Amino acid sequence: MTKGWQKSDWRAKPRVQMPDYMDSAALNAVEAQLAKYPPLVFAGEARRLKKQLALASEGKAFLLQGGDCAESFAEFSADNIRDTFRVMLQMAIVLTYGAKVPVIKVGRMAGQFAKPRSAPTEMIGGVEYPSYRGDIINGFDATPEARQPDPSRMLQAYTQAAASLNLLRAFSTGGFADIHRVHSWTLGFAEHDKAERYRELSNRISDALDFMNAAGVNSDTAHMLTTVDFYTSHEALLLEYEEALCRVDSISGQNVAGSGHMIWIGDRTRQPDGAHVEFCRGVLNPIGLKCGPTTTAEDLKVLMAKLNPQNEAGRLTLIARFGAGKVAEHLPRLIKAVKEEGAAVVWSCDPMHGNTVKSPSGYKTRPFNAVLSEVREFFAVHKSEGTIPGGVHFEMTGKDVTECTGGLRAVTDEDLSDRYHTACDPRLNASQSLELAFLVAEELLAFRDTGQRIAL
Ligand code: PEP
Ligand code: CO
Repeated sequence: MTKGWQKSDWRAKPRVQMPDYMDSAALNAVEAQLAKYPPLVFAGEARRLKKQLALASEGKAFLLQGGDCAESFAEFSADNIRDTFRVMLQMAIVLTYGAKVPVIKVGRMAGQFAKPRSAPTEMIGGVEYPSYRGDIINGFDATPEARQPDPSRMLQAYTQAAASLNLLRAFSTGGFADIHRVHSWTLGFAEHDKAERYRELSNRISDALDFMNAAGVNSDTAHMLTTVDFYTSHEALLLEYEEALCRVDSISGQNVAGSGHMIWIGDRTRQPDGAHVEFCRGVLNPIGLKCGPTTTAEDLKVLMAKLNPQNEAGRLTLIARFGAGKVAEHLPRLIKAVKEEGAAVVWSCDPMHGNTVKSPSGYKTRPFNAVLSEVREFFAVHKSEGTIPGGVHFEMTGKDVTECTGGLRAVTDEDLSDRYHTACDPRLNASQSLELAFLVAEELLAFRDTGQRIAL
């Protein structure tokens, strides 16, 4: 793809948000070991995802990208993976059935371990510690030892990512994701209003499946109903890890990030001449680029030229994350830049990262209403600009946590301490995620304004 590019070129560029490892011999040994391990994903899969994202850029598919803010070693379990996967399936069903659009399912999973932080240190109990940067870099515990960056954590992250991906592949094709099981995906969730709506929707899908079965429409395309495509993604922050898993695709001779199907560049690491852009521009995977309030039209143009010089549809997803009340102020100038360049991009909405606040009780939270508002504003701006809302990007978990306030089963500020488990940013719980999916389906239907109204 990029002539003359070497996977280590980022090392000569200014880097931010990356740890300084004290023991360079230990770091080198880990990199050498990872470089020998098999990649976690294959080039053909990344290419297939890119093709599907190309459809999303035209409004013919919709990207659903979600999962943990930060995966953690301590929370790693089959149940957690299953629950997150199941909520993603439910959300996808609501969108596919509700808005009649194919949904591209991409987890923030199997690699989402490294975190950018707003400050290099943090105060805990009146003591200053180096910031926690994600389990792939240092430990969450508030001790100087835990906060020391440790390269061997990359090996544990790789192992966890490999095991997670293995389970996700099994869930995707081994029967769990069979649409005929649409009802069973609700089992085990706490009862709530949206669960009831979901159950009604499942009834209609079951009816339709029974009808198709009776009519004999079940053989040739059966696998499309019994399996799903599920992709993985993460922020490509820790470039030593990314470089070590970068491989040359034997078919095309191009470089592919072997760490996940899609990687993205965060809002704090998108410097056009920085190390992160340098690494990402050289791999063939679909790339996400977070766009925040400080993204200028000029920077975006430079970044699009660097990251997608051939203007390949599906290559670049712009993930807008401005905050409720701010979309109309920022998104139009970026849409204008995209139009001026004639760039093919997927526009996705991250309604999480611009809406983080400190609650009176001291927890970092996100008011669910602000999350929903940002999604509505995103759709409204695209409607008035004549451009296409192609996806959503969110932080969620299948567990019944209390991290974001609000929602139909209202989580209050006082509730936050009940089940606040995130290693980083506050996530939507299962019920809030489903509520978000219903809202997005309604917005998508209204956006298309087909005159067709389905009571979701
Ligand atoms: C994230 O997605 O977890 C994140 C840190 O986002 P952003 O770079 O948009 O702040
Ligand atoms: Co986050």
